[in-house]
Amino acid sequence: MRTQVGIVGAGPAGLVLAHLLHLNGIDSVVVDRQTRDHVEKRIRAGVLEHGTVDLLTAAGLADRLLRERMVHHGVELLFDRVGHRVPLTELTGREITIYGQHELVKDLISARLDTERPLLFEAADVQVDGTELTFDVDGTQTTVECDFIAGCDGFHGISRAGIPSSALTVFEREYPHAWLGVLAQAPPASDELVYAYHDRGFALHSMRTPDITRLYLQVPADTDVADWPDARIWDELRTRLDRDDPRWQLNEGPILEKSVAAMRSFVVTPMQHERLFLAGDAAHIVPPTGAKGLNLAVADVAVLAEGFAEYYAGRGSGLLRRYSEICLQRVWRVQHFSWWMTSMLHRVDDDPFTRELQLSQLRYVTSSTAAATTLAENYVGFPMA
Ligand code: FAD
Ligand code: PHB
Repeated sequence: MRTQVGIVGAGPAGLVLAHLLHLNGIDSVVVDRQTRDHVEKRIRAGVLEHGTVDLLTAAGLADRLLRERMVHHGVELLFDRVGHRVPLTELTGREITIYGQHELVKDLISARLDTERPLLFEAADVQVDGTELTFDVDGTQTTVECDFIAGCDGFHGISRAGIPSSALTVFEREYPHAWLGVLAQAPPASDELVYAYHDRGFALHSMRTPDITRLYLQVPADTDVADWPDARIWDELRTRLDRDDPRWQLNEGPILEKSVAAMRSFVVTPMQHERLFLAGDAAHIVPPTGAKGLNLAVADVAVLAEGFAEYYAGRGSGLLRRYSEICLQRVWRVQHFSWWMTSMLHRVDDDPFTRELQLSQLRYVTSSTAAATTLAENYVGFPMA
């Protein structure tokens, strides 16, 4: 088999890239090691930046998203039992969209299937060797000769190893905490997201639809989900999200999904080597407090698709050569924002000095328009290149 771009991974990065290439008449083969069902049910992100939605809309990928999404114009920071709204749209002119990543992935898979270009699930033993992509499907080994390979296979994928370690610099920070996330069959208790700073640890109240709430608790990094029966989760959420407002009440309901996600900051540079390009979580990870990972994955592939379009239109490889340099500017801005949000909102130890600094920062971003604007501008995201 031959193709122009071999794409490893059918997550948001791989599928959006495949579609953007298709729109430019560029052929690709997408392979994923998981089943389609698994990929479509994996509960992860929920917040899409304005620029991400604009890109998906322009690519014809947002019909259902625009019908079913929830549009938010602010977020709330809760500390000392009082909520403070950050008016995102008032401060930036932009909004955020709430739409489950797995719903977006379903839309992207359906768009790919409509193009009738190859999308292969359950590919075993996927390997990248130069511009050769090999894998096993149903016991048959296939080799795809590619002009280029896009490694969109997430943090635990194999593509990154295709770049010799001597050519890579790795930047990494692990955090002593993780997030225990639950999806609950219960109407959200507030109209907007609530980021809560509490002495017992951070909590986040988010949502997916008018009937489904998404909630997170800061837990120690080595947490076993089995230690968190539903009653303990609700108790802790009630405590951390409580406030001096008699109208506030957390809505509870059956827990549909429960998992622990590790938190790390991670960047590899460069994000390209010869004809291999890394995009999304394969190249960088941010802690989820800034709601950025998926948006960053889409921003990478927007640049990469432009580079391939330029190349195949015979206009040279200038953009492809600068791919890593262009992406890393956004990556580091987002790394800083995600680290800053994480440091401000999570309890790390019982150090009273750190606690006072965090509270001082929270009071600053909720009382100064300049500070709130900085948070808002980063949270809604910068326009795509
Ligand atoms: P992935 O989604 O990881 O996709 C990679 C694909 O590659 C997968 O389908 C995988 O099966 C496949 N793959 C892996 N290895 C191989 C292999 N060897 N061969 C073939 N295929 C392979 N981001 C936001 O923007 N907003 C949020 O609100 C947000 N919240 C989050 C909450 C949580 C709890 C978590 C865990 C993440 C959150 N994120 C958020 C981050 C976001 O989910 C990721 O950044 C995003 O999924 C990255 O997309 P990707 O396509 O790069 O990688
Ligand atoms: C989510 O809804 O899953 C979500 C929202 C905001 C974040 C992270 C995750 O910062």
